[in-house]
Amino acid sequence: MTDTLKVAVVGGGTMGNGIAQTFAMNGHLVSLADVSQEGLERALANIRTSLDRFVSKEKMTADQAAGVADRIQPVCNDLASAVEGVDIAVEAVFEKEKVKKEVFSVLGESAPAEAILATNTSSISITTIASAVAGPERVVGMHFMNPVPIMKLVELVRGERTSDASVDRTRAIAEGLGKTVGVAEDYAGFVSNRILMPMLNEAAFALHEGVASREDIDIIMKLGMNHPMGPLTLADFVGLDVIVDILDYMLQQTGDPKFRACPMLRRMVQAGKLGRKSGEGFYSYESK
Ligand code: CAA
Repeated sequence: MTDTLKVAVVGGGTMGNGIAQTFAMNGHLVSLADVSQEGLERALANIRTSLDRFVSKEKMTADQAAGVADRIQPVCNDLASAVEGVDIAVEAVFEKEKVKKEVFSVLGESAPAEAILATNTSSISITTIASAVAGPERVVGMHFMNPVPIMKLVELVRGERTSDASVDRTRAIAEGLGKTVGVAEDYAGFVSNRILMPMLNEAAFALHEGVASREDIDIIMKLGMNHPMGPLTLADFVGLDVIVDILDYMLQQTGDPKFRACPMLRRMVQAGKLGRKSGEGFYSYESK
C-alpha cells in the first residue's frame, strides 16, 4: 500500500460513494462531500451494503469493514473545509459542465496548490473543466467504472494543460488502489464512452425498431460477445439519464449523428424510467 493519503470525494452518488469506499478500503482518509444530508446518508448506506458483500464473501472481516467505514467522514454543504489539506480531490457530481466548473472553482481556491484535482467525468472536456481553476496543470480525468470497488480500470484523461507530473502522480495513486490505468486524450467521451455509448444506444434502437426482444438482444450480446451483461441490462445499470446526457454532450461536441440518442431512450428518461436506480428501465427491479 502507498502512504496514507488525505482524499476528498465530491458527490455521494453511485460513483462518488464507490470511489470513497475504494480509497478507504486502501487505508486512505476520505472526506465525502455532498450538498444534501439525505444524499450522504444514502451514500453511507450503499457503502455499508457493499462492505457487507465483501464480508459475506469472506474477502474482508467485519472489523476491517468497520475500519473502512470509519475512514470515511461525511461533510455536508461545506466543500471548502472538505478539501482542506488534501492530497487529491476527486469530483463525481452530476454530468453537467456548469456544475462541475462551479465545483472546480472552489477546489482551485480551497485545496492545497500541490493537490491533484481529478474529475470522474465520463465525457465532459477536462480542458474545459480545468479552465475554471488557477493551476490547470493539476487537473486530470480519473474515470472510474461502476461498481468502483470491483472494476479494475481507471481511464486517465490528460487535458490540454495537464502536466506530466500530474498524470504520473494520478497513475501512481490509481495503481495504489489496485487499478489498472488506460490513458486517453481529451476528446468527447474519451475511449470508454466513445465506444460504449453507441453500443448501448444501438441496443435501444434495435429494441425500438423491433429487431428482437429485450431478452434476445441481451442474450445475443452477452453470450455471443462474452460480455458480462447484455447491453440493455448494462444500460439500466449505468442509468438511462446518464446515457442520454452523455450522448447529448457527444452530439453537441462532435456534430456526428451517430451520437443521436434513441427516441425511446429519451422518452423513458422523461417518464422517470432511469434504470436500476429508479426501479424501472428496460427491466423492472424490486429493490433499487
Ligand atoms: N460491492 C461489493 N462487491 C460487489 C459489488 C459491489 N458493489 N458488485 C459486485 N460485487 C461482487 C459480488 O459480490 C461477486 O463476488 P464473488 O466473485 O466473490 O462472488 C462479484 O462481484 C461478481 O458479482 P455478481 O456475482 O453479483 O454478478 P456478476 O458476476 O454479474 O458481476 C458485475 C457483477 C461486476 C457488475 C458484472 O456484471 C460486470 O462486470 N458488469 C459490467 C459492468 C460494467 O460494464 N461497468 C462499466 C459501466 S460504464 C461506467 O461505469 C462508466 C461510464 O462512464 C458510464
